[in-house]
Amino acid sequence: MALPRRPTRPHLTATKGRKMGEKKVKRHGKILVIHGPNLDMLGQRETSFYGTSTLEEIDGEIKRTAKECGFSARTFQSNHEGELVEKIREAIDGYDVLIINPAAYTHTSVALRDALLMLDIPIIEVHLSNIYHRESFRQQSMIADVTTAQIVGFGKDGYSIAVRAAADMIRKAQSAKGKA
Ligand code: DQA
Repeated sequence: MALPRRPTRPHLTATKGRKMGEKKVKRHGKILVIHGPNLDMLGQRETSFYGTSTLEEIDGEIKRTAKECGFSARTFQSNHEGELVEKIREAIDGYDVLIINPAAYTHTSVALRDALLMLDIPIIEVHLSNIYHRESFRQQSMIADVTTAQIVGFGKDGYSIAVRAAADMIRKAQSAKGKA
C-alpha cells in the first residue's frame, strides 16, 4: 500500500458533555466512505462479482470497524455524479481519510477525478471485484493515479481492510503531529 500522498490533518473535536466554558478537546479521526451508482443494489446485483451482502450490511460493518479502531465513519451513496462531487468536497475540511468506490464512474468521470484533486487527505479507492480481471474498459480507473492506495477483489472485506488502513494512517499522522 502506498504512503499518504500528502500529510493528513487530524481534527480536534470538542469532547461531548463538557461544562460551559470548559475548552477540553480531544483528537478524533473521521473517515468518509462514498459509494457510487448501483451500489445501493448490492445483494441483488451480479452477486457472482459483488457478493450477497446489502449496502446496509456493509455500511454497518464499516461503522463497527471504525469504532473498534477508535474512530468514526460516515457513509454515503448516490447514483448521481454531481451529488458525489459535492460529497467529496465535504471531505476538504471535515474528514481525515476518504474511502471511495465510484463504481461505474471510476471508468468515466473526470468530474470525480477533479473533485478528488482538491483534497489533501489520503484517499483509498475500493472495488469489490478485481477490476483488472474484467472487461478492458473496467481496467481503466480515472482516479487511481490521484489516490493514495487501491484495494480490489476482496469483496465486502475490502471496506474493512480500507477502514483499518485509514485508521493506521490517522494514528501515524497524529503521532507525527504530536512529535512536531
Ligand atoms: C465496482 C466495479 C465497477 O466496474 C462497477 O461498475 C461497479 C462496482 C466494484 O466495486 O467492483 O459498479 O466498482
